[in-house]
Amino acid sequence: MAGTAETFQLSLEAAEVYESRFVPAIFGEWAPHLVQAAGVAPGQAVLDVACGTGVVAREAADRMGGRGRVVGLDLNQGMLAVAGRLRPDIEWRQGDAAQLPFPDGSFHAVLCQSALMFFPDPAHALREMARVITADGTVAVQVWGRLESQPGYGPFFNAVARHVGPDGISLIGTYWIHGDLDKLAALFESAGLQITATRTRLGIARFGSIDEVVKTEVESTPLRERISDDVYRRILEDSRRVLRQFLTEAGKVELPIEGHLISASHRQGRLGAESGSR
Ligand SMILES: C[S@@+](CC[C@H](N)C(=O)[O-])C[C@H]1O[C@@H](n2cnc3c(N)ncnc32)[C@H](O)[C@@H]1O
Repeated sequence: MAGTAETFQLSLEAAEVYESRFVPAIFGEWAPHLVQAAGVAPGQAVLDVACGTGVVAREAADRMGGRGRVVGLDLNQGMLAVAGRLRPDIEWRQGDAAQLPFPDGSFHAVLCQSALMFFPDPAHALREMARVITADGTVAVQVWGRLESQPGYGPFFNAVARHVGPDGISLIGTYWIHGDLDKLAALFESAGLQITATRTRLGIARFGSIDEVVKTEVESTPLRERISDDVYRRILEDSRRVLRQFLTEAGKVELPIEGHLISASHRQGRLGAESGSR
């Protein structure tokens, strides 16, 4: 399965907004589940590929209690600058998922959250992740479900799509491209990996208001630079209508979002898969 041309590159300023708004709203909730799926334990060597501002690496480091090695790797200097400011005790490296700068078998666990969709050749990136795990190591990947399976983000993104041009559609369509579990399994297999567990769960993205949903999804993603102020205003107006159904009594927004957590080992590893949903 081919990837897209989208690589989710942000300025330092947008990376700060990503950390202060996006991470608490969405990504923070998924990090403990991914770290759990990878079986991260004290004393291990752990790599977070496309770490962004480092939410998964931080979670892994906390779980390891200072025993072991945690490395976060990302293409983007802005993301890494924020990550390093927050956690100077973790090793942050600039690099490409397509060419991991580590010898074979360097890590017990390699994790990758909400980023596989941004790799031009995702099978190759998975092969790289497989290469750098130990013989009995784990690759654990989190991706979002299909847009059609998204009870909250589906209506919202359809509203956004009505106003943005092809560049915007390309970006917001990319988030969901690995949502089909059968195709995802084939992708892992093509990378020499065998899936050992698959979990589909419904998370809740939490925002202080409808306007905050829009601000976060536009200003802490590459979408902002692709749309005019007028398009931004129209997205905001349409979203106030579409997202009303997700308002809580306190006026906050709780937007359900489906994602998959996949754990895998080298193909000759142990067989069997456990499935479940929450
Ligand atoms: C949506 S963010 C997810 C960040 C982080 N994993 C999290 O959960 O918050 C996607 C990240 O993928 C990174 N990225 C995209 N393509 C990459 C590549 N080829 N190699 C490394 N990082 C990449 C981007 O720079 C960005 O930080």
